Amino acid sequence: MTESETFAERLKKATWSDHEEAENTAYLDALMSGRVSREGYGEMVAQHYFAYVALEEAGRALTGDPVAGPFVSPELERVPSLEADLEELYGKDWRDRITPSKSTSTYVARINQIADWPGGFIAHHYTRYLGDLSGGQVIRKVAERTYGFDGSAGARFYDFTGIPDLKAFKESYRDRLNALDLDEVQARRVIAETVLAYQLNTEVLVEIGKRLPDYLVA
Ligand code: HEM
Repeated sequence: MTESETFAERLKKATWSDHEEAENTAYLDALMSGRVSREGYGEMVAQHYFAYVALEEAGRALTGDPVAGPFVSPELERVPSLEADLEELYGKDWRDRITPSKSTSTYVARINQIADWPGGFIAHHYTRYLGDLSGGQVIRKVAERTYGFDGSAGARFYDFTGIPDLKAFKESYRDRLNALDLDEVQARRVIAETVLAYQLNTEVLVEIGKRLPDYLVA
């Protein structure tokens, strides 16, 4: 770490190889080149749903927390969008048609386990939402093109209507990371939890990828 490096810069640098691993999973690779069926895309949306229910429940409980509270913003909430996407993808009975995978259950268990540790919550919050506001926007374009979603639902998960300027929001998010008053031990713990959050996400994608032969379209 250099003297002038901010915590946001340090966090990104320390976890970027884990980001690459998540981004380069066979499933995301196939999805990004438009080779995954609608059913295969729906499986990722379903797994997201269980993780975001846990993440957003943890967030609600931390709203008044002086450390984690500033990260919890209603305009980030994804569960209502995921519900709309799942209804589009699976039909009205979507709740009966989706189940968390083993990897998602592990991921959700970890989110629940750290829910009363503000730094841990921030690690998971950062890994998902800053990703949704970044690479997620590329996934959105691919999903709209591949599955012909007309903007109503299907990829609403990636549509942050409450945030008109994503770039400015991400900058203010990094300001919030930099305003965290972490000593060296705490900083390392948050970074380690972010590495874990990436790994848990990668495992979810790897597990979906095991069914890739069923999901690939010509
Ligand atoms: C197709 C897959 C993906 C692509 C193309 C992609 C692309 C990108 C790009 C270009 C950035 C930099 C944006 C910026 O600096 O403003 C970024 C940032 C980020 N991505 Fe991804 N990403 C993908 C998947 C993921 C996944 C699966 C996760 C986590 C589960 C993730 C989490 C993040 C996070 C947390 C950041 C913010 C890093 C920072 O600036 O501190 N991404 N992504």
